[in-house]
Formats: sequence, C-alpha cells, structure tokens
Amino acid sequence: MSKKNVVVIGTHWGDEGKGKIVDLLTEDVAAVVRFQGGHNAGHTLVVEGKKTVLHLIPSGILHPGVRCLIGNGVVLSIPDLMKEIAELEETGVSVRDRMLLSLDCPLIMPYHVALDRCVELRRGNQKIGTTGRGIGPAYEDKVGRRGLRLRDLLDREQLIYKIEGLLEYHNFMLEQYYEAEPVSLAECLAASLDYVEALKPMMGDVLTTLADYRRSGAAVLFEGAQGALLDIDHGTYPFVTSSNTTAGAISAGCGVGPLYLDYILGITKAYTTRVGEGPFPTELHDETGRHLAEVGHEFGATTGRPRRCGWLDLAALRRVVEMNSLSALCMTKLDVLDGLKEIGLCVDYEMDEQGRPAPVYEFLPGWDEPTAGLQSFDALPLTAQAYLARIESICGVPVDIVSTGPDRAETILRSSLD
Ligand code: GDP
Ligand code: IMO
Ligand code: MG
Repeated sequence: MSKKNVVVIGTHWGDEGKGKIVDLLTEDVAAVVRFQGGHNAGHTLVVEGKKTVLHLIPSGILHPGVRCLIGNGVVLSIPDLMKEIAELEETGVSVRDRMLLSLDCPLIMPYHVALDRCVELRRGNQKIGTTGRGIGPAYEDKVGRRGLRLRDLLDREQLIYKIEGLLEYHNFMLEQYYEAEPVSLAECLAASLDYVEALKPMMGDVLTTLADYRRSGAAVLFEGAQGALLDIDHGTYPFVTSSNTTAGAISAGCGVGPLYLDYILGITKAYTTRVGEGPFPTELHDETGRHLAEVGHEFGATTGRPRRCGWLDLAALRRVVEMNSLSALCMTKLDVLDGLKEIGLCVDYEMDEQGRPAPVYEFLPGWDEPTAGLQSFDALPLTAQAYLARIESICGVPVDIVSTGPDRAETILRSSLD
C-alpha cells in the first residue's frame, strides 16, 4: 500500500475486526500508534492459525522491527500492560525494546476499577455494561484535572503525596456513597511504583517521535479502539465509552496534526454487533440473530460476554462516514453470511410511535457458495459482489478491503487501495 499515514477506525460498536486489519497493514509501516481507550479493547490477530488477543499493545507487535506507540490519549493500567508484555514475551515476541509510552498517559488506578464496578451496580437496570476496567473513572479524573499521569512515577515522594490525596477523595465516595470497601495506599503503590524501573526505558515523547517519522517520510498506522457509535460525543450516549473513538481524536490523543493523515479506513462487519447495554435498532432476536452469533463466534475478546447481533446498519454508517471523513471501508466477516438466503441492509430509519428509530430494510439475495478464505474479489459469488456494491453506493465510499476469515491471509485487497 502506498499510503503514508493510515488510520483504522471501528464504524459501529467495536469488535469489527480492527486488530486483524491493523496487523495486516502493518506490513508497510514503521510504527503503529494507539491514541484513545485503554485495555477495554480486545483486538484479535490470527497468523497462520495462531491466535493473539491484544488489549493495550498496538496490533503491529507481531511484525518484528515495527515500533508500537501508546499516545497520551490512552488510559494506562500499568499492571495490565506489564501482564500483556510478559504474555507476549513468553511466546517469543520482543516487546519492551519496541514500545514507547507517552509520559502524559493518564493512569488507571485500583480506585478507578472499584468505582467502575460500584457505579454500574448502583445504576441497576440502567447500567452501561462496561468492561469493568476502570476506564470511565480514569477519564473522569483526567478531565477533572486531578488524575495521575505516567510521568508522575518519576518523582516517588510527590507520587505518594498525590495518591494519598486521591485516596482521600475516592475512598470518601467508595465508603460513604457506595458503601463499599476503601482502596489502600499499598494497593496503589503496588499498581504503580513497583513497576517504575521496568517502565522507565519505555517512557518517552510520542509527539516528537511521530514528527521525526513524518519528516523522514516513514509511514505510520493509527489504531482506533472501540467504534464510532461508542464515541462519548457522537455515540449512543450514555451507552458509550468515555473517550472519543472517532478520527478527530487522533490529534488530541497522540499529537499528530490533522493535516498529516492521508487515509482513514472504517472497519465494518458484514452485519452489526454490540456487547453491553444500549440501543441497537437492527438487533435480531430471532433464528438469524442466533445464526450470526454462532457462525461469527460472537463473544467479547475482553470480557467473554455474548455479543448481540443484527443486520448491517447503513443509516448509522452513513453518519459515521461523515464524522470520520472515511476514505474507504473494509468489510470483515463476509464469510459469516455464507449460506443465508437473503441479507438485510438497514438503509434508513423511520420513527415509530414512541419516537424511536425503526429500521427500513432492503433485502438482497444471499449466496450458497462459500466465500470463507477467498483472496480474490473476482472469486466472490456475484451476489456477494452486488452486496458490497450496494453498500458502496449507499455510503458513497469504496470497499477497499474484504475479509473472508480471521487469518491474516484470508483477505482481499482491492486495486482501489493503492
Ligand atoms: P476488534 O476489536 O475490532 O479488533 O475485533 P475483535 O478481535 O474483538 O473481534 C473480531 C473477531 O472476528 C475476532 O475473533 C477475529 O479473529 C474475527 N475475525 C476478523 N475478521 C474476520 C473475518 O473476516 N471472518 C471471520 N469469520 N472472523 C473474523
Ligand atoms: P474493541 O477495541 C466492544 C463497550 C462496553 C460498554 C461500553 C462502555 O475491542 O472494539 P467501558 O469499559 O469502555 O467504559 O464500557 O463500551 N466497549 C466495547 N465494546 N469493543 C470494544 O473494544 C469495547 N470497549 C468498550 O461493552 O458497552
Ligand atoms: Mg474487540
């Protein structure tokens, strides 16, 4: 691929297959950068049958020599990062010498995890269905201008002083408001200070590193987590995550200016899924919904929860194309539709009597021949080609990549990509 600064964004509620595509496109880049979210993400890579699930580490890590950067927009759980590094190293992947962590990353601390659970419990049947990783409370501390950042680890005395203050604040909430157990200073130090020496060589200035890549003409890939409909501003609020998940977040989340992005690829599943609570207009509660969940193995890569399934929502996708200035789409999991008699596409919404969006569907003929594993567009059944063409025509952008299986190799790269 000739494009330089490439962005990969999820177009719906996450789990579209971003990890697979980032891994694939990493072939041509010098570095992969995460710019928002945290270890709520679960990105699955399959290379020659071997599966790797990443939560915080950028999905370029399986390519030796590629640097993996974590920008300031990412909320960082240090113990979880170190666990992920150790797991990769056990499988023979070198990690530490290729990682760069922004000194400005906000830290996820044990009190954030405790609060995430308490807030969810208190919401009862109004719960968001979070991943329970402390993501929301950590971003709250960031915008509240009281949170810790990675750089705070470098001054031991100040760090202890700051944690004591934060514990006073958060333990008041935990004990007095939520009637829960307080968090101790020892727990917080074990989740931060204990790792200082291991972390120091990986800490640095992501902004300057990215600027150096740009000046030297090296290509960089920006890896989104979650999906556009989970965006704190543009998503299905309040059933969203606590970061901006759309392309606009890239500049803020790693310090690359907006004019330096060349190509923004939206990853779209051939149907739609959602894990957690919240509206999902095209959700199917019938046999077809169960079929998609079963054939697509729709269980969360982070929490193992079953994902809700439904037809592809193009009414939402058209808005997502706009809000991200998408250059193109990548359609994943086309193979999961194999064997269906007809395939629904939500092309618009009509408001029902309660003012809720009711999908307007177009039904297209399915295909009997398997697409699983195909690597050439011309080999796709004509009805599958027509399905993709209809999506292109409704969304106004090309489908540059088609994925026909979980493995890196099970992919169709179209000529429009170059
Ligand atoms: P991400 O969060 O966007 O990276 O996606 P996840 O990894 O959470 O979920 C996508 C799942 O679909 C993973 O289990 C992938 O291995 C799998 N997958 C990705 N692309 C394809 C595909 O084209 N066909 C099939 N059958 N599975 C795929
Ligand atoms: P990837 O990167 C799917 C969902 C949670 C919940 C909501 C808020 O793998 O696509 P949070 O813990 O972020 O406060 O939870 O967001 N969610 C995801 N759903 N894929 C993800 O990441 C998600 N990250 C968060 O299920 O509904
Ligand atoms: Mg995922």
